[in-house]
Amino acid sequence: MYNLIDGKKVASEIKKEIALEVARLKSDGKKVPHLAAILVGNNGSSETYVANKVKDCEEVGFRSSLIRFADTVSESELLDKIKELNNNSDIDGFIVQLPLPGHISEERVIESIDPAKDSDGFHPVNLGKMVIGLPCYLPATPFGIIELIKRYGIETSGKNCVVIGRSNIVGRPVSILMSQKGIDATVSVVHSRSKNISEIVSKADIIIAAIGSPGFVKAEMVKEGAVVIDVGTTRVKSPDTKSGYKLVGDVDFENVAPKCSYITPVPGGVGPMTRDSLLQNTLMIVKGDS
Ligand code: GUN
Repeated sequence: MYNLIDGKKVASEIKKEIALEVARLKSDGKKVPHLAAILVGNNGSSETYVANKVKDCEEVGFRSSLIRFADTVSESELLDKIKELNNNSDIDGFIVQLPLPGHISEERVIESIDPAKDSDGFHPVNLGKMVIGLPCYLPATPFGIIELIKRYGIETSGKNCVVIGRSNIVGRPVSILMSQKGIDATVSVVHSRSKNISEIVSKADIIIAAIGSPGFVKAEMVKEGAVVIDVGTTRVKSPDTKSGYKLVGDVDFENVAPKCSYITPVPGGVGPMTRDSLLQNTLMIVKGDS
């Protein structure tokens, strides 16, 4: 019987820990963390993500600000707002929700964020520090995955870990973290140009699936007893939910789960942890201990 990794439960425990820290900051007369989010346009998933992030802030006692732009905003207008937030000492950390409209360079936007206020951990300075193992703000999803693995006491040292996907915000950074000292896994990354993906994945003790392809990981690709972390969150139409949509993962859960020692569900696995990382990074910014 497999163990379900309950990201919702762990995320809620972490939120309680953060709320306690915020209460302590308040009672010491220190500044309450203030997180801002910039949202461009009306992309449905982005609206949901940002609304949840604002709700999380309320739950732990952070202040939050939501700054909205129409999807016709120019890049220079957006960069001006980022500059303003960089210089506003009342804002401790902020994020620019991705994706952005095609006429805006995500790269230029991310690079314009002050790395010291980079709650998402997307700035090349933070990613560079991560690569060489220096203290930094970690990208939210990889941070959440590592935290889940640690809190469930999953053995990683010397284990064979296969990461599926090489995105800048999940696959690539999590592959680096999994091989770092203290975690010590042997890591392979497979991607759209890889050959023999099934064969490589079938040798994994730990599979981290982050390609955004629903049900990509099938039972025959998974070794008996493997740990499976599903990062997929593809939003598909569903008549069964109130919103008319549901989230589906990269793993064929029903058939893969019986072979696993541990597996994350979608939703309720990695997703809630990702949102916590943002709070953890922002708290670290305020405490000055990155
Ligand atoms: N879009 C999807 N995930 C994320 C995230 O973690 N941060 C930001 N800024 N945009 C996203």
